[in-house]
Amino acid sequence: MSEFGKIFEGEARADLLQPNGGAALNEALLEAGVLCLRGAALSGGDFLALARRLGEPQAQLIREHRDDEYPDVSIISNAHVDALGDGKRIVLGRHWHTDDSYFAVPSAVTLLHANCVPAGKGDTLFADTRAAFDELPELNKNIINGRQAIHKYKSRRNVSPVPHRTAEEEAETPPVSHPLVRTHPETGRRALYLNPNRIDHVAGLSLEDGDALLDELLAFATRSEFVYRHRWQAGDVVIWDNRCTMHRVEDDFGSAPREMMRVLLKGAVPV
Ligand code: SIN
Repeated sequence: MSEFGKIFEGEARADLLQPNGGAALNEALLEAGVLCLRGAALSGGDFLALARRLGEPQAQLIREHRDDEYPDVSIISNAHVDALGDGKRIVLGRHWHTDDSYFAVPSAVTLLHANCVPAGKGDTLFADTRAAFDELPELNKNIINGRQAIHKYKSRRNVSPVPHRTAEEEAETPPVSHPLVRTHPETGRRALYLNPNRIDHVAGLSLEDGDALLDELLAFATRSEFVYRHRWQAGDVVIWDNRCTMHRVEDDFGSAPREMMRVLLKGAVPV
């Protein structure tokens, strides 16, 4: 059984950080689903170079979160405010989600670099949606195989606040339809494709039945046996595969500074 949420330190980490380490890093990621290069402590430029060894960066939708020097790097910080909304602080990603599922072509992989983390707080939890799909009762598999869900930037089931968009950002993110079960383009493994924060409804079901189904799938996919909790250290690089995982940040750190650099990598249309 593969280790979901594998931490690489020392020589193993150094090998994966080598300029020619991209293939080995991708292999490790495909196996682990989520991995950490403990204490890599990279500059913005080196972090972006590492990301480029795995794929092509995809700029973050919200322009305001893009880094000034490296626009393919975005900053995730609890100092963010919803500038176009109520102007209040906004903690991004505090409910289960997979990155950018509201795009027709969602990001394949995300890399996060911990610039600054509050001691013992602000863990990120990851759910292995391959393992969850494998273990799902046949009855549920029969209901969801071949079924689509409609994803929206701001869905009717939205539970975690999302920043208001500019008109340009809104035009880039119309509602999209994705399968509830997707097949990984590189491993061929099937996984649940859920984004509780962005799925608006399940196609072909009443809202009531669709909501009940989504609630049941979420409860199943986030059972403790499928979840890895990452306890951050400054300088950690955590990389996850959005094609077979969900994640959420533990919103327990109040105003203690927490800042990450993030790079999203381009993916393919989920099938
Ligand atoms: C994210 O949801 O992409 C960021 C998670 C985190 O801040 O730990």
